[in-house]
Amino acid sequence: MSGLQLVVVTGATGAVGRHVVRRLAGTARVRLIVRDADRARALGLTGDGEGGPEVVTADYGDLERLRPAMEGADAVFVVTANPLRPEHDEHIVAAARGGGVRRAVKLSWLAVADPAADDLVARWNRRAEEVLRRSGLDWTVLRMRSPMSNTLAWAATIRAEGVVRAPGGDARTPCVDPRDVADVAVLALTCTGHEGRTYALTGPRPLSPREQAQVLSRVRGTPVTFEELTPEQALANWLRKLPAPVARALAEAAVRRAAGGAEDVEDGVRAVTGRAPGTFETWAADHGDLFR
Ligand SMILES: NC(=O)c1ccc[n+]([C@@H]2O[C@H](COP(=O)([O-])OP(=O)(O)OC[C@H]3O[C@@H](n4cnc5c(N)ncnc54)[C@H](OP(=O)(O)O)[C@@H]3O)[C@@H](O)[C@H]2O)c1
Repeated sequence: MSGLQLVVVTGATGAVGRHVVRRLAGTARVRLIVRDADRARALGLTGDGEGGPEVVTADYGDLERLRPAMEGADAVFVVTANPLRPEHDEHIVAAARGGGVRRAVKLSWLAVADPAADDLVARWNRRAEEVLRRSGLDWTVLRMRSPMSNTLAWAATIRAEGVVRAPGGDARTPCVDPRDVADVAVLALTCTGHEGRTYALTGPRPLSPREQAQVLSRVRGTPVTFEELTPEQALANWLRKLPAPVARALAEAAVRRAAGGAEDVEDGVRAVTGRAPGTFETWAADHGDLFR
């Protein structure tokens, strides 16, 4: 471990960021940039008093609030989430450079590596990676497949009706345990040797939503039925929750997955951590209460 003193974590309330915060505890001073401090507190991220992370509230859209949040930090974990606001990555990088940050580790999407992926989210992630690579910081990019925690979106209907409704029931993808991605992120943030590296992070084997529902059935001890949504139904659902260009990008990604475009298993987790990535069975067992 290098002698890092202060790590800034953006996206601390997100699927991977929350585990990065927990793993950094005790190895570095941690400063969270969140837009809702209550949310961070509710997730147990802020600690009790002395030694717990410092919390700065700032929106990525507000460069002037981001600047002081980076002051004096050694490294930053970069998570952005709005493809309609590409300036967010530019703001984080500008604030990091201005604040004297040396190292940046960025969460991205493995679809970036697929030349056939030309949806809005893939193009935005590609551009955001480029912003980092050109930043002059020591960068590391973590391209992940879908985090296993995406299945938490099914928890409400599983608990209420024992049903999963999703498109592409047989479309396999090697979803990854977000705790593994966090392990890789913490090593890249706190150790040398990861500068200029791009890691492809997947779970150990491709699984379809239908197979994931079967695993969740076993974890619950009661059946979970899979009801396939048509592409049109899925798009209508996404349009209810998301801006139209983002909803359409998710629909395009679903088409690629259905054609087998997201099936490949990659070895990034093992290459960085020295151990095999966790299985969906283990993740589901560890989060079983959320589905009961
Ligand atoms: N989700 C997937 O299936 C998936 C799969 C592969 C790769 N990825 C990639 O992973 C990255 C993260 O995406 P995600 O949607 O999955 O993230 P996420 O886990 O939902 O986390 C997003 C984080 O960013 C914070 N955030 C969002 N907008 C912000 C703003 N304007 N100012 C300050 N904080 C803000 C959120 O805070 P709040 O708690 O305040 O919202 C949250 O902590 C993206 O590059 C994405 O393409 C995602």
